[in-house]
Parts: sequence; C-alpha cells; structure tokens
Amino acid sequence: MLDQDSKAGQPAARRLRVFVTRALPGDALARLADVADVDLWPAALPPPYHELRVRSADCDGIITLLTDRIDGALIAAAPNLRVISNVAVGYDNIDVGAAAACGIAVGHTPGILTETTADLAFALLLATARRVAEADRLVRDGGWQTWDPRLLLGQDVHGATLGIAGFGKIGRAVARRAGGFGMRVLYTTRGDPRDADAATLGEQVPLEELLRRSDFVSLHVPLTPGTQHLIGERQLRAMKPSAILINTARGAVVDQAALVRALREGWIAGAGLDVMEEEPLPPDDPLLSVPNVILLPHIGSASHATRERMASMAVDNCIAGLRREPLPHAVRV
Ligand code: GLV
Repeated sequence: MLDQDSKAGQPAARRLRVFVTRALPGDALARLADVADVDLWPAALPPPYHELRVRSADCDGIITLLTDRIDGALIAAAPNLRVISNVAVGYDNIDVGAAAACGIAVGHTPGILTETTADLAFALLLATARRVAEADRLVRDGGWQTWDPRLLLGQDVHGATLGIAGFGKIGRAVARRAGGFGMRVLYTTRGDPRDADAATLGEQVPLEELLRRSDFVSLHVPLTPGTQHLIGERQLRAMKPSAILINTARGAVVDQAALVRALREGWIAGAGLDVMEEEPLPPDDPLLSVPNVILLPHIGSASHATRERMASMAVDNCIAGLRREPLPHAVRV
C-alpha cells in the first residue's frame, strides 16, 4: 500500500511501514506484507524498550504484544503512526489516552479468546483443587511408594461455590463451565445489575461477600488503576482458609507479596496463577518456593486455533488503521 497522503508531483510515495514485535502463528503476516513493508522483530524475546521506540519511530503501524510497553514517549516519537494493534484482549501495556490524543487508533482481539481462556481458568482451578502438579512431581521424583488414603488430599470442585470477580465474557464462560460441575456461582460486576443473562448464571454479590462465601475465587477483571491490587491482604484474609484463588487476568490485580504470605501462613489453601506481577517470574521470586501454588507462563489463550485467530484479527485491525478506516476491533477510550 502506498501512503495515500502523498501528493502528485512530490517525490515517489513511500510504502507504508509496520513494525511487528514478534513472529505470529499462522499466515496472517503474509496478508500484511501485501499492503505494507513489514519489519519483523527476529528474536524470540521481546524487543527491549529502546529498540521498540527506535523501530517504531518511522512506522505507520505497529503490531504489539502485551509484553511491549507502548507509552506516551514512544507514541510522541512516532509521528507517522496511525495504528497500534495489540495481539491480546487486554491493552494495559498501551497508553491509550496518549494514542487517542495523537489520533492513533488502537486495536485489540476481544471475543475470540474467551472460551480458550475460560478453559484454562477451569483447568487451573481443577489442577489446583486436586493438586495435580504436586502429584505429578511426586511420581517423577520417585516419591510414590504406595496407595495411601491420606495421600495428596485436595478440595472437591463439584458442588462447591465459585466466586467470579468480573463478569464479562470470560467470567461468564467460566460460570458456564462451573454449571457442568454443579457449582454455585457468585459474581461481582460493574455491569447492569438487571442483566438477565448474568442472573441465569449466578448471584451478584459485593466483593467482600463473594470472598467470604466462595470455595474458589477466579479473577476476570481488566487491569486498571481501579483493579490494581484488588486482592490484597484484607481480601485474602476475608477468604476461607480452605479457599483457592485463580488468576488468569493480570498479575497486578493481586498483591503478590500478600498472596505469598497468605499461602505460607494458611490464610487460604492454594492458588493457581497464569499471570504474575512481573513476567517472566524472576528466578528468586518467593512464589517459586511455595508448594501450594500452580504457576503457568501466561498461556490463557494459547491454543493453536485461538492464537491464529488473534494474529489474523490483529492484522485486520492494522490494515484498517493503515487505511485510516474504523478498526474492526478498536479499543474505545
Ligand atoms: C492475554 O492475556 C490477553 O489479554 O489477550
């Protein structure tokens, strides 16, 4: 695609340029290459911030991942930028206010990863309740000596109460799975309390009540200034000592230092985390020495089909932004 803004009589119009910060699954990038010059970051690890900034400076579009910090300074240093297309539903890595102020469209990938992420939240819930990772380690480490009626006792999932904080698409998809296990569902939401669909799936309660009554608490809120450390010491102490916390949202929704104390001191029974405050988890992080937590490397949407759809949606958003058309899936500021 040639830059549509170029005027006749001026030097040859330049091709539009897009920086793509990581290789993506599927063939979506081939479609992008038909309309723009693609600068694909070649390494498996994310570009360091400085590199991100330098490479974005002369670009018309960037396709980013949740590991890429797109802040006001980077945006200000990229005068041609028309579109930032995040390959994620969450966009807390992007200063969307700064982008909007510069007339830059921001896209994300909502909807398509709902069921896949709900599958993982439920997998984590089951695995944590039934101590699947500990059991696997025991077998591999040669510690399995006999069938023992006291070996690796966990929590029943069927018939238990599941508290879901954040009742958007993913929270509801988790609630539907809970129905299959005969669980009672409680939820919090900022949405309309008269929402009939939500009411068929569970009972809306305030967060404090949800924490007090639930056997499992699963977090599905976006990370915003209002949800940062939504679950801290006070909230963890309000949970049952037998309760399990599941986080597939964003690490900073939980005060991780408080969680480590909660797990070590038995305020709650366990946790399953797909997300952490710092990713990857530093090698000396205290969570690594806590036995009653399952730690996953942020793989909520990681199925072949979903990741390919996310890549394709991100490319669609990017191409629309390059054409200065409305993005199919724009972040609304
Ligand atoms: C993953 O965490 C996403 O926001 O898509």
